[in-house]
Amino acid sequence: MRVAQVSSELAPFAKTGGLGDVCGALPRYLARAGHDVRPFVPLYANLREGRDRLVPVDYARDVPVRVGGRTLTFSLATAPVPGTDVPVYFVDCPALYDRPGVYAADGDEHVRFAFLTHAALVSCQRMGFSPDVLHAHDWHAALAPLLLRTQYAWDRDRFGGTRTVLTIHNVGYQGTFPASVADELGLGGVRPLLHQEDLARGRFSFLMHGILYADALSTVSRTHAREMLSREHGMGMDRWLRARGDAFTGIVNGIDTDVWSPETDPRLFARYSARDLSGKAENRRRLLEALGLAPPAHAPVFGIVSRMTVQKGFDLGFEVLPRLLARTDARLVVLGSGDRRYERSFEELERRFPAQARFRRGYDEDLAHRIEAGADVFLMPSMFEPCGLNQLYSMRYGTPPVVRRTGGLADTVRHFDRRSGEGTGFVFDHYTPEGLEWALVEVLAAWRDRAAWARLVRNAMAEDWSWDRQIRHYEALYRHVRGA
Ligand code: ADP
Ligand code: GLC
Repeated sequence: MRVAQVSSELAPFAKTGGLGDVCGALPRYLARAGHDVRPFVPLYANLREGRDRLVPVDYARDVPVRVGGRTLTFSLATAPVPGTDVPVYFVDCPALYDRPGVYAADGDEHVRFAFLTHAALVSCQRMGFSPDVLHAHDWHAALAPLLLRTQYAWDRDRFGGTRTVLTIHNVGYQGTFPASVADELGLGGVRPLLHQEDLARGRFSFLMHGILYADALSTVSRTHAREMLSREHGMGMDRWLRARGDAFTGIVNGIDTDVWSPETDPRLFARYSARDLSGKAENRRRLLEALGLAPPAHAPVFGIVSRMTVQKGFDLGFEVLPRLLARTDARLVVLGSGDRRYERSFEELERRFPAQARFRRGYDEDLAHRIEAGADVFLMPSMFEPCGLNQLYSMRYGTPPVVRRTGGLADTVRHFDRRSGEGTGFVFDHYTPEGLEWALVEVLAAWRDRAAWARLVRNAMAEDWSWDRQIRHYEALYRHVRGA
């Protein structure tokens, strides 16, 4: 199948979270499965320095695109998806993308990402590429289905057979702007096709139009697909998702095992496997040493790697973790950045427990891998979690996760039962401090039973959530949407 992919992130070139991991892995695994896949992503400022490694595309130089009243030009440059010969198509438009981060707060996010979709479609025309499937990710690309039905509908030769799939990684981000944006983006002429209730309320949402017009919709786990149909989790989209019925499904993310495998990971202090865990002990020792912490005598090392947002459940953590650190010899190693109030609370935790807790503020790929490998337990008590990748990585790295039973966490982690020896982590139900506390008591009890712990680690490492397995579900979805 011919697949065009449009997204705001694509690891390792542009990543702020799991969206980047998924959009970086899909092209690689689809290509391996024999498909012709062409991913499009903006050329952000961080890639400008390594520009000499990018190859300009001759047929797409200074291409003008009219977005509403304004004409902007872009050029395409490519670099291979690492480990493959599949090119990533970078949309080079410095006026829009030459900003410090992936996302900006300059008041033109709607133009930046509407333009990305236009550039991807115009590039398909220029390269003579007729996608069977256009796979759009999150609100940034969610106008693609509407644009194909309107502004690009004339090009039946190129797009007549194109079906659209929209994957919603996080329904909390909807790309909602004032209603005037519709005119600004040149959609005034198709006003009857726009979401009338929103317009009447003075707003325009990218994601809403994807939900209305994509041929198929998905989110990143089955449980979250069910949750999103409820008012509690649908963030105002539940009604519109319910209206799409069977067109909306859930597919759990996979692990890109080229990047996340303890046997081969070049970022680790030592490599290891389920058969020989001595390398894991070495990672633990070196991680604690690098952070200036002595190894704990009787308790585990807890790790966190996360965007710091309300989604991730830190509000529970700040009630429970101080008690854990005060009562036990446990260590806590945290990497992340985001909301200032969470960052400050972790700073405070480090000040209160200088011999036990470390907080590294920022984004650090190497440290993220080293925490997955060097910690004994991974903490992810999310309030909600569409899928979550870190719990998948941590299981693979022999670091059982503590998760709340929500979204993809519910679909991928099974609570460890010391009697039967079954399970891959620790799962609590209620989003309350007592819920998390209960899970931590379970962790400490399992930790004291060394044979049980060894079993738990083996179970976790034996799970297979690789893209080798999960990619089939996307292939099936693509086939389904094509009616094949
Ligand atoms: P989300 O996409 O909601 O942030 P996921 O668990 O799906 O959650 O994916 C998070 C991804 O981002 C993982 O690859 C994780 O290692 C990475 N990550 C998050 N915060 C950081 C950080 N501060 N430094 C490095 N990697 C990070
Ligand atoms: C979003 C979700 C996360 C998911 C990731 C990749 O960022 O918050 O749960 O794993 O997308 O799909």
